[in-house]
Parts: sequence; C-alpha cells; structure tokens
Amino acid sequence: MKQMSPLSRSGRFAAAPAADVARFTESLSFDWRLWRHDIRGSRAQAAMLRKIGVLSAAEWRAINRGLDAIAREIAAGKFRWRPELEDVHMNIEAELTRRVPAGAKLHTGRSRNDQVALDLRLWLLDEIASLLEELRSLQQALVELAEREQEVILPGYTHLQRAQPVRLAHHLLAYVEMLARDRERLEQCRERTRVSPLGSGALAGSTLPLDRAYAAKALKLVDARGRPRLTQNSMDAVSDRDFAVEFCAHAALVAVHLSRLAEDMILWASSEFNFVRIGDAYTTGSSMMPQKRNPDVAELARGKAGRAIGNLVALLTLLKGLPMTYNRDLQEDKERLFDTADHVRATVRLCAAMLLNTKVNRERCLAAAKDPALLATDLAEHLVRKGRPFRQAHHAVGALVALAERLGTSLDRLTLKELRSADNKFGPDALKLFDLKQALERRNITGAPGAREVRKQLRRWRKLLS
Ligand code: ARG
Repeated sequence: MKQMSPLSRSGRFAAAPAADVARFTESLSFDWRLWRHDIRGSRAQAAMLRKIGVLSAAEWRAINRGLDAIAREIAAGKFRWRPELEDVHMNIEAELTRRVPAGAKLHTGRSRNDQVALDLRLWLLDEIASLLEELRSLQQALVELAEREQEVILPGYTHLQRAQPVRLAHHLLAYVEMLARDRERLEQCRERTRVSPLGSGALAGSTLPLDRAYAAKALKLVDARGRPRLTQNSMDAVSDRDFAVEFCAHAALVAVHLSRLAEDMILWASSEFNFVRIGDAYTTGSSMMPQKRNPDVAELARGKAGRAIGNLVALLTLLKGLPMTYNRDLQEDKERLFDTADHVRATVRLCAAMLLNTKVNRERCLAAAKDPALLATDLAEHLVRKGRPFRQAHHAVGALVALAERLGTSLDRLTLKELRSADNKFGPDALKLFDLKQALERRNITGAPGAREVRKQLRRWRKLLS
C-alpha cells in the first residue's frame, strides 16, 4: 500500500497550497520549540490507545521507540524539519509514520486542535516552573542586599520629592512583597493550566471510547490527590487560551514591577542621586562620550515591560470576538506567549544579577536622608502625643517649616521658643526628635521601616525563601 501522508490535506485536495500560502500559514518556524511537549503528549496518547485496544502492545512499543529516536535527533539538531508540513505536530507525526507504520494510528480520536492546546499547556507548565524559580532567586538577591545594607538609611519619596526617612532594606523588601504576589498569581495560573484537553478532538470529542483520564494521569495533569484533571467541554477545550492570557497578564505585571525596580536603580545610579554604583559588567560605555557609565541592563529591564504589555494586549485582541471553536487565528497566540515567557524570565534573571553586583553609597544615602525636613511629620506626631488633634499639629508644623524658610535655617535649628510660637504644647523633648537613627527606631509597628521591624521582616523572608 502506498505510504499515506498524515497531512490534513491528503485525500481531499488535488493540489498543494501555493508557495506563498504555505509560507503565510506555516507555524513550524516558531512552534518547533514545542517538540518535547508534543512528543510527551503523543506518548500519553499512544499509551491510552494501547489501553483501549486501538494499538497492540507491539505497535505501542514501536511507536515509543520511533518517538525516542525522533526526540534524540531533534535534541541533537539532526532532525530534518520539513516546512511544507506546516507545523511541529505534522512534522513529528509524518516522520514517525514514515518509520513506524503504526504511527498512522496515533492520531485516532485526536485533532491538532486538542493536540496544540495540550502542547501549549504542557509547555507553559514548564515555563511557569522556571519563572517561579527565577522570581524566587530575585527575591533572595533583594533580601541578600537588604541584609548586607541593613544600616543604610535613605529618604523615601512620594511624588519623587523627599518624604520621610526609611531603611534601604525596607525599600528593597517592598519589591520582595510585590514579587511574592506575582508568584502567588503564577501558582494559581498553573493550577488552571494543569488540565488535559486531550480527547476533545477537533471540537466534539470522539465516537471512540477514549480513556481521557488515563492519558491525563500519564501526563501528570492531576490534582493534589492524584485525580486526573480534564476539561469538561470539548468546544471550550479546543478554543480556550485563557491560560495563555493569564500567564501573559501575570508576567506583564512582573515586568511592570521590574520596570519600577529598574527605574529606582537608574535614578539611584545617576550623578544627581549617586546612591548606588552598578557593577561594570552591568553597565556600558558610550561610543562617543568617554566618561559615560550607562545603566543599560536596568534600562532594558524597564523597556521590556512595554513588550510584555503589548503581548498581553495582542492576545486579548486575538481572542476577542472569535467564533466558536478553533480558528486558525489561534496560531498567532504562540509567538506572543513565547516572547513574553522568554523576555520576562531573562529580565528577572538579569535584575537579580545586577542587584548582586551593586554597591551602595552609604554616605550619600545618609546625607540625603539627613534633611531635617523629612522629620516634620515626627514633629507633628510629637504634638499629637501631647494631646493636639493631628490637623492642628500639621498646621503648626507647617507654620514652622515656613518660619525656618524665612529665617534661612532648617527645622532642627529652631529654638524651643520658636517652636512654642507655633504651638505652646511643644516640649523640650521636641528638640531631640531630629536624631535620624532614633527617628527610625520610633517606627516599629508592623510594616514600618524601624530597625526592629525590618529585622523581623528580613527573618521572615529568609525563612520563607529558604
Ligand atoms: N499550527 C496550528 C496552531 O498553532 C495547529 C492547529 C492546527 N489546526 C487546524 N485545524 N488547522 O494553531
């Protein structure tokens, strides 16, 4: 018998697609990277077909051997990819069938529609696992830097204006918190991704008694108690890309968080701030200006957020208004998804490396934090302790700030008499409020930047990340 092509066109079509159509519709150039997961899916499919008697034991073994050989060749870069076969699924199946006649039975009850949905889910599960690892390493890098620089005090800013003094460790731990939420979201997304669409066929399942649960178990698409997790509607299963959207959304938020961290580093590395010096390996020179040390890694980390947001919007736009069920439009999901996964993972990794190669300029941070105006709120809270309503205290200190400005002096240099001119409740202890270290000691409620609380938070994160 003549070798049958597994191509979807065999039988029905007389002519091959025009060359430009083939080029326009192919996805092999980007979906080949799904090969490991495509083969994993095919192994589970074969095992299931063996179980329900569609494949004999000998056929099943032959298929597995064939898939082994193909996997080895692809890994070694020796597999002959054939672009005219459109995509990774067709390439692997066609080559398998060329070598193993039983390969022609592998697609029983399967369509590329449930196959690609499965491959993408399997691929994304691996991707989420490695992104989670990178995020954790970045958290560890932040905690490490925070611990190393525990004593460093710098101004905290609102509106990019000096606001109140904080510990650098506190500032860095803010990012650790953001990344913890990112990890939590990704873990939840992983749960919704870990579901098997296999057995949904093209859109309406199959007339054959496919054992979907068996295949799902073989793929470890199971819940915490080992029970298989199956999509419950074949039409939804082949057209659902929510998991990809969720991942792109969560990853975009990671990228947004990193863009903020990057922006802090860029500002701090500027001569105007000069709070940090980013290691040489993470800066570049200018082709024209010999003096430049540009924070390119941080700038690209900031820029990557644009890409991740764009990919998310592209995916949502792709799905919007798509009629049920599978439509070829869905092929456009992959490059966006891959792009987000690649670039966000790389950004997380590079940010961690950059942080570990950053020196903090403690004196400069302290000098900026020493601005007595940063303790104006402390002065108002002093009055609150003496029984003044905060609004009145705020007003009185506001008047003192203006007075200091008029006298060409600073808030900490005002005399008790001058303080009392604004509010007679000021006591002599008000003059001692301006010791920066002690000012931070006073901030020890949960979530505040005082030494005791920051130490507690560092301990907490050390434990959580160990
Ligand atoms: N390359 C296709 C994709 O990525 C695989 C599914 C094709 N299915 C089909 N009915 N043409 O979406």
